[in-house]
Amino acid sequence: MLNGRRILVGVSGGVAAYKTAYLVRRLVEQGADVRVMMTRSAQYFVGAQSFAAISGHQVATELFGAAGVSPHTELARWAEAVVIAPATANTLARATHGMSDELVSATLLATTVPVVFAPAMHTEMWDNPATQRNVAVLERDGHTIVGPVSGALAGGDIGPGRMAEPEEILQTLERLLAGRLRGVRMLVTAGGTREPIDPVRFIGNRSSGKMGYAIATEAAASGATVTLVSSARLPAPSGVTLIEVETAEEMAASVAELAAAVDVAVMAAAVADFRPVAVTATKLRRTDGIPEIRLEPTPDILAGLAALEPRPYLVGFAAETGSIDKAIEKAISKGADVTVANDVAAEGSEFGSDTDQVALIDSQGKVDRWPLLTKREVARRLCDHLAEQLRQPATKG
Ligand SMILES: Cc1cc2nc3c(=O)[nH]c(=O)nc-3n(C[C@H](O)[C@H](O)[C@H](O)COP(=O)(O)O)c2cc1C
Repeated sequence: MLNGRRILVGVSGGVAAYKTAYLVRRLVEQGADVRVMMTRSAQYFVGAQSFAAISGHQVATELFGAAGVSPHTELARWAEAVVIAPATANTLARATHGMSDELVSATLLATTVPVVFAPAMHTEMWDNPATQRNVAVLERDGHTIVGPVSGALAGGDIGPGRMAEPEEILQTLERLLAGRLRGVRMLVTAGGTREPIDPVRFIGNRSSGKMGYAIATEAAASGATVTLVSSARLPAPSGVTLIEVETAEEMAASVAELAAAVDVAVMAAAVADFRPVAVTATKLRRTDGIPEIRLEPTPDILAGLAALEPRPYLVGFAAETGSIDKAIEKAISKGADVTVANDVAAEGSEFGSDTDQVALIDSQGKVDRWPLLTKREVARRLCDHLAEQLRQPATKG
C-alpha cells in the first residue's frame, strides 16, 4: 500500500532515533520513496550518513546553506505524508506553537499533508502537563499521535514514553494514506445538551464532548467530509465544519436538516431526555420560594434518524451505569445499525476522561467488547468499522 508513496521522515533528538533507522528501512522495503530530515540534536544520536545510506537520498539537516533554495517548502510539497519519529518533547512543543526556526519545524509548518508524530521520552517528560497539552492541541489540529507505549526506557526506567514500534508507525501511515473514509459524508454529534430553566440556569450532564470530537477528528483525517453538531463549546477540529448548538431541540433541528445529505450519522452527544416545560423570563430567586420545575420529554434524535427512508448508516451511543444490559435492549429497539455502549461508572470510562472501555452492539444485540482505550483509539477502531461496513453492500434501511 505504500508502494511509490512519498514519505518524509523527520528525526528529532531522542535515544529512540536508532529505531527510526529500522522504520526507514521498512518503508523502503514497502516500496516507499523516503526522504529524511533531522534536527541538530538528532544527529548526536544517529548519524545522517546512516539514514542517507538506508533511504538512498541525502539527508536534509539545515534550513540555510543547503543544496536546495528552500528545503522546508520543497520537502513539505514533495511529501504525501510526514512522520516525526522520534518526536521529542521539544519538537512536539515547537510544532504545537507553529515555530519554524529550524528545518524540521519549518517543514511541519509548511506542509498540508497528514502528519504522524511518534513521541518518545522519559515518563516524567511525557506526563508533564505541558507535553500533554501540546499533544492534545496537535491532535485537535488534525495530526495523528501514535504511542508512546509503556515499556523499558533508556537508562533502565520502565513506564510510558517508549516510542511505538516501527511496524505500528508503518500501519498508521498506511491507514492515513489509504484515506479509508474518502468520499464519505459524515455527521457527528458531541457534548451534553443544556436545557434552560431560567436565563442563567440549565439542566445539563457531565458529558465533555471528547468522544464526538475524537471521532470527528479521526474521520476527517481518514478523508471523510465531517460536520460536527456540538454543544461542547470546544474549538472545531481541523478540517471539520462545526455547528454549535445548546439544547436538545436545537441539536435535533440541525441533525434533521443535515441527515438526508450524509452517509453516516454518529450520535455521540449526551442529549437530555427531559427539559423544563416552561423557561422563566427572569432569574428565579430564593425569595420567591422553592420553584416547581415540570419536565417534558425532548425530541428523540436517534429515533427520528432511524425512521428516515433512506437513512444514513446510524451509530448510536449509550452511556449506562453499572452494566450494559440496558444498552443491549436499546441497541435492539432503537434501530441504530450499531450502538457504542459504555459504563460511565467504570474506572477509566467516566464522563470527561481521556479513555473509554466500550462495547459495540449490533442491531441484533451481539456484543463486541473492546479493552480500555484512549478515546482517539476508540475513534480509530470505530472508523475502521465504518470503513468496513460502507464497503459492504447496503444492509440498512
Ligand atoms: C542522552 C539524551 C537523551 C535524550 N532523550 C530524549 C528523548 O528520548 N526524548 C526527548 O523528548 N528528549 C530527549 N532528550 C532531550 C533532547 O535531546 C533535547 O530536548 C533537544 O533539545 C531536542 O531537540 P530537537 O527536538 O530539536 O531534536 C535527550 C537528551 C539527552 C542528552
